[in-house]
Amino acid sequence: MKEKLNINADGGYHLAEQKAADYFKLLSVQLNEKDYVVNLTKDIQSWKQNHIHTYSLFSFLSRRKGKRDVSEYQRYIQWLDSSGKLDNYLDRSISYIFMRDLGKALDAPDTQERIRQVVADFKRHLTQSDKGDTTETFSMAALYRLAQKEGIESTIIWVMDKIKTVSANIPSGMDVDEAQRKLIKIIAGVLMHELEEMSNDLLPEDRSEKLDVAIRLGYSYGLTYPLIDDLLDSNVLSDEEKASYSDLIRTALVTGNVPELVVWTGKNGELIHFIHGELSDAFTYIKTHQRPETRQSFFEQSYVFFQSQEIDRVKDLTNTAYSNEELYIPIILKSASSRLIVRSVISAEEDDGFLDRTFYYGIYNQLADDFADMFDDLKAGAVTPYTYYLTHHEKRKDLINPFELYWTVISHLIHHVYHSDRQACEVMLDRAINGLKRFREKRGTNTYNEVMELFASFNPKFNRLIQQMVQKADDVDFFDKLLRDHIITTLKKDRKEQEEFLETAETVRLQINSILHLSNTNQEPSINAPLLDAANYSLEGDGKRLRPIMTWFMGVHEYGLDEAAIVPLLKSLEYMHTASLIFDDLPSQDNASIRRGRPTLHEVYNTANAELTGLFLTQKAYEEQASLTSFDPKTVLHLIRYSSQMTADMCRGQAMDLDSKGKKLTLEQLNTMCFYKTGMAFEASLIMPAILAGKGEIEALKTFAYHAGIAFQIKDDLLDVEGNLELLGKAPMKDIANNRATFVSILGIDGAKKAMWEHYCLASEVLQELPQPIHFLKHFLNYLVNRDH
Ligand code: IPE
Ligand code: IPE
Ligand code: MG
Ligand code: MG
Ligand code: MG
Repeated sequence: MKEKLNINADGGYHLAEQKAADYFKLLSVQLNEKDYVVNLTKDIQSWKQNHIHTYSLFSFLSRRKGKRDVSEYQRYIQWLDSSGKLDNYLDRSISYIFMRDLGKALDAPDTQERIRQVVADFKRHLTQSDKGDTTETFSMAALYRLAQKEGIESTIIWVMDKIKTVSANIPSGMDVDEAQRKLIKIIAGVLMHELEEMSNDLLPEDRSEKLDVAIRLGYSYGLTYPLIDDLLDSNVLSDEEKASYSDLIRTALVTGNVPELVVWTGKNGELIHFIHGELSDAFTYIKTHQRPETRQSFFEQSYVFFQSQEIDRVKDLTNTAYSNEELYIPIILKSASSRLIVRSVISAEEDDGFLDRTFYYGIYNQLADDFADMFDDLKAGAVTPYTYYLTHHEKRKDLINPFELYWTVISHLIHHVYHSDRQACEVMLDRAINGLKRFREKRGTNTYNEVMELFASFNPKFNRLIQQMVQKADDVDFFDKLLRDHIITTLKKDRKEQEEFLETAETVRLQINSILHLSNTNQEPSINAPLLDAANYSLEGDGKRLRPIMTWFMGVHEYGLDEAAIVPLLKSLEYMHTASLIFDDLPSQDNASIRRGRPTLHEVYNTANAELTGLFLTQKAYEEQASLTSFDPKTVLHLIRYSSQMTADMCRGQAMDLDSKGKKLTLEQLNTMCFYKTGMAFEASLIMPAILAGKGEIEALKTFAYHAGIAFQIKDDLLDVEGNLELLGKAPMKDIANNRATFVSILGIDGAKKAMWEHYCLASEVLQELPQPIHFLKHFLNYLVNRDH
């Protein structure tokens, strides 16, 4: 959609710059007149009544006992709840979010009412989830369940896929977790605005529709953080590449159209092509979903944001000549515009109160963040008010002390923007003291004291008061900080565990590859049939070995079985599975010519030999099972009986599949068919080691295998239409060619994805109910639905 927009980028920037200059002048005057000291001293004196407690020895001891480790999210919430602090905690946290993210004033009665509601909802949500292991609170399964309630499953699937793709393309040299966290944060921010804009009497489908658009808009705008801002901050692109990339973005914002990308000179061409594609889509989405009246202001604000970042980015910490205006005005601009965009992206009605409050608020937040990050920024050579002051304050006596400006901004916000409202004052001071406490905790008391010596010496009396509060004041922490820490730890932990799982699985896969080869044992030399070679040909193909891998994890990891003792079981599973693929590919079945990256067996030999090899391999499988000599013979008999029943059922599943040609199966029939043809083997892989370990046939594991197996088959059906030959090692579009009834042919791609995630959730939920957690199954399940081959 090419369209002429009347964007006045430079004019808009100039206007915003003027407003920021006026604001900065006003702050400077207040800083020089020291009114803020008088005001804040009074504020703090009354604020501390609720924050400095004297404890009896007993309560001190019991407080220590309950001493919380903030990284343990749920335990901390429980502690707050049991010590009667949860209400206040949520109240200040939600109030703060309403001020910061939604630009509200806390003295408005409707805002107060809304905050009360949100606090109550949150409290209910946080205290009712007594599921024990709450690292799952933010799992994909929990998120998907929530999406189902709101009727936005497709949106969540879409956005998770997008986040996955972006993460996979974040170059090394940039922080993937940070990128994900920012995306999630922006999406949540846009969603929040939408939720606050929405009236309560919307029809469910209209509500779903609005949430869908908000998530897509949030993602589209959120992309700019990792893909523009963080990329330009990093050292991934060369200076020339950065310049061309900046030009590209500027042109897009000024014209409202992303320019074509013809050639890219520089070593990051592939990355830039990816980004260009994603940003173009995002750009188009934003444009087409905005009301024409707000489209222009969206672009103008975006330009202000981008341009002020650019001005900041090229600053050089060794340059001694920046004026206070040069340092602070871009900061006022970027911090205000980034928040204004979040609201304008959903085309909300103009609201002057919001615009002003948000404009004045930005720098407060920026100064708080820059304070927290000053040493990282210093290391990176980034110019922020703090790093610049640290570097140059001795020679530049005219430089404004950013910490003093910070308190000036706080005073200005409380008394001039929020009309000395009590709750606003409470929350602002909570946040300020908390920021200092967090810094001291993170950097240690020594560094903290040194920092304070430099930055807080502007008024010794005021400083003493602040330090007293940092020492003694309690109840100043916030939910959004807890959540942020929790999300970061969870993301990192999940990624690490998933990677470890994949590494182990790969090692096991290679081990399995090395034991599969069949050798010519007691065979008459006169029998010159190619079956052995044919079987080895099939086994040597590039299979994922998922079934024996599952068995290995269950047997060795979970049940502590001897690795060497279960080798025959591992072999039997892969022999059986490979046989099923040989049959499945036959002209009489799926008529496939490529398998595991090579021509199928009947193409290399012939159908008769392929059939015989299939049969040969199933017999070899039983021979292996009967060689499990380290186990009690009765147990082994049980295992073989179970295994034969399974194999017989798999045959039934394949027959159902063949019979489904052109039929409109019901969902129930589809599930049954997939369980029989695919899920059974998954079940067997989990249950057989349990049998050997004397645990019997565990029902919960069977339920898990049922859902995981079907999810796996749905993914296989999806890959058949979305994958490619190179990755899959088998030809795509086979199911369509064969006119098979699959999840995709019956439900469509979107419906198949929903069904897959539904089975994923059901499988995850079973895992949470196991008496003892089996961690690898969670990672295995994630792998099944996220794999690309
Ligand atoms: C393919 O199984 C047959 C299905 C049940 C969908 P896999 O996808 O595990 O195949 P390989 O063993 O890796 O080749
Ligand atoms: C096969 O399902 C199930 C078996 C157990 C053989 P598919 O026919 O979908 O498997 P692919 O796609 O050929 O691997
Ligand atoms: Mg088939
Ligand atoms: Mg097939
Ligand atoms: Mg298939």
